[in-house]
Amino acid sequence: MDKIVIEGGHPLQGEIAISGAKNAALPLICATLLSPGPHVLENVPDLRDTRTMLALLESLGATWSRDGDTLTIDTSGLNNFEASYDLVKTMRASVLVLGPLLARMNRARVSLPGGCAIGARPINFHLQGFQQLGVRHQLDQGYVDASVDGRMEGATICFDIPSVTATENILMGAVLAKGETVIKNAAREPEIGNLVDMLNGMGAKIKGRGSDTLLIKGVTSLKPARIRVVPDRIETGTFLIAVGAIGGELTLSNCDPALLPSLYAKLGAAGVTVREEKDRLHVARREPLRAVDIKTMPFPGFPTDLQAQMMALMCFSNGLSLITETIFENRFMHVAELHRMGADIRIDGHSAIVTGTGGLRGAPVMATDLRASASLVIAGLAAEGITEISRVYHLDRGYDDLVGKLSRVGAAIHRQPA
Ligand code: EPZ
Repeated sequence: MDKIVIEGGHPLQGEIAISGAKNAALPLICATLLSPGPHVLENVPDLRDTRTMLALLESLGATWSRDGDTLTIDTSGLNNFEASYDLVKTMRASVLVLGPLLARMNRARVSLPGGCAIGARPINFHLQGFQQLGVRHQLDQGYVDASVDGRMEGATICFDIPSVTATENILMGAVLAKGETVIKNAAREPEIGNLVDMLNGMGAKIKGRGSDTLLIKGVTSLKPARIRVVPDRIETGTFLIAVGAIGGELTLSNCDPALLPSLYAKLGAAGVTVREEKDRLHVARREPLRAVDIKTMPFPGFPTDLQAQMMALMCFSNGLSLITETIFENRFMHVAELHRMGADIRIDGHSAIVTGTGGLRGAPVMATDLRASASLVIAGLAAEGITEISRVYHLDRGYDDLVGKLSRVGAAIHRQPA
């Protein structure tokens, strides 16, 4: 168990190359189960969660090798359809093997993920969707035991909430189903577009990329994939917000400015200037930070995965900021830790009122979940004095060498055994 130690007050200066997106790499790795392969995935980040997903695929009989950020995955040796609890409990996204296993093997036994720090996170939309595709399932000792006689049958599925992984799971099941499937109220996150591109490249017939309605004409087989993982928009946003907090000037390369439509206006209103240039972003803060209000929404609204980071930023303004979390029921775990650094934040239901005090003081704090960890790093970069963050394994799930990337652009940050 490591901890991260930060000495605040060092503005950032230089260039950071953004890694591939965790939330794209995970479904893309699962999609390789749909056909034997070998599949080639480029720009794959090296994260705890991608390593967990590859371990899960190995347990199903797949083999893989990594050459830098390129993964080659072969699932021709698939010989197991059970995703065990000891793997699934560490990563909810494991539920994404359900669709591909049902499509390839007509059988899947996947442990229910259980809750996590930010909410109960049920998978009812996934299961209801598969039921409509002709899948029978039962709950058995904490596992979803699902099966279908032969190919799934296309259906029209409408989600109550535009769920990201439910959209991805049903998509991966429908591509090999009989007939046509329509997914209405589909999530529109860019990582889903990345998956649509991969599946269509394998020979699937999916229309409606990027919209809330996906039309899938089932095919009988798919060929191996070659796909590049999209840049991580949440890692990108985390660095943009960090410059807002501590100041300085950064260039972010290997990114896609189009993936964060709702962030730039917010940062501009807060006094953080972002200049877009093809696959690069230039960010600086040259004026006092202003308070802005945030309300998280499904894409293209403000991403819930940047809410905690924005809350840390608002602590350094001199005004009142209202932050409303509409996606998850318990995504304010970082508030208690920011309080330890002197933040003035009051929670009222799904909203938090941040009274910017212009600064925070370093303190020992504890990471509670992935994005909360990132918010504590941002707070530590700009706080006065030393901040020590424990339980950094949360951070390692979704950021590829965050400490190294920050220390190379001037931050006084390092890791050491806790
Ligand atoms: C994905 O989670 C992301 N994870 C999350 O990123 C992200 O915060 C979330 O989408 C929202 O953008 C991956 O892509 C691996 P949802 P997901 O289904 O798919 C409810 C991170 O930090 N719901 O879109 O699990 C759910 O409880 C992680 O990188 C149901 O009720 O989120 C939530 O309130 C955190 N039943 C809402 O829908 C279901 O069957 C949206 O969740 C499914 C979801």
